[in-house]
Amino acid sequence: MRIVLLGPPGAGKGTLATAIKDNLGLLHISTGDILREEMKNNTPLGQEAKRYVESGGLVPDELVTRLIKNKLENDPKAKKGFLMDGFPRTLKQAQDLDKILVDLKMPVEWTLCLEASLDVILQRLTGRRVCKSCGAVYHVKNMPSKKEGICDKCGGVLYQRTDDNEATITNRMKVYTESTKPIIEYYKTQGKLKVLNADKEAQEVKELALKNLNG
Ligand code: AP5
Repeated sequence: MRIVLLGPPGAGKGTLATAIKDNLGLLHISTGDILREEMKNNTPLGQEAKRYVESGGLVPDELVTRLIKNKLENDPKAKKGFLMDGFPRTLKQAQDLDKILVDLKMPVEWTLCLEASLDVILQRLTGRRVCKSCGAVYHVKNMPSKKEGICDKCGGVLYQRTDDNEATITNRMKVYTESTKPIIEYYKTQGKLKVLNADKEAQEVKELALKNLNG
């Protein structure tokens, strides 16, 4: 299966992808995770991405599309199916992704759009904690680690993303409304859109997603 996950910052795209990728045997491709890894390793790409990510703006289309093209062409797991999380984020990225996937003969099958209300989004983003070592995602209230500040999976230290502060979240929401929301219509026109209520708790969202994909 080849799936695109859409939805505002903090709607739970990464959490859902992690929860269903093994059920469906899919490769989870997150542009946010790839960019943060590059930033952590201080690569030239990471240095260029940093200023956009930290202000909540978008990294240039050409740069992220190149990353995705490379991943889709060279990771053998992508051939078996993928869950795209955080890409595409502009109409241009969506059109370019279609071209890449037509060439590879593996077009997008479904787009799951996670809808969440603003108060839920703010609560999720301000309480999110991420493992520095393995990238596992927690929430101080909704999904706390067993030992405060320590990852259950690998014992790594949990941190708060630099873009999870109020000013940057406001900008990320603005960018989402202006640049990313129009993509919903793009996939709707293609008959590939399924909308999920992501205000619900994580297990329910997972069940809803699997029901939609298998139904
Ligand atoms: P990215 O990392 O993609 O950020 P985002 O889209 O803002 O999404 P988030 O990761 O914040 O949220 P999410 O929906 O995955 O929520 P999560 O599951 O973690 O991108 C970061 C930046 O990189 C961008 O701002 C941009 O600069 C750049 N970038 C990335 N892709 C780009 C592109 N294609 N083009 C240009 N620039 C790009 O959940 C959030 C919290 O809520 C967690 O704590 C979780 O535990 C909790 N939670 C999740 N679901 C539930 C639930 N159902 N119930 C209760 N709690 C929940």
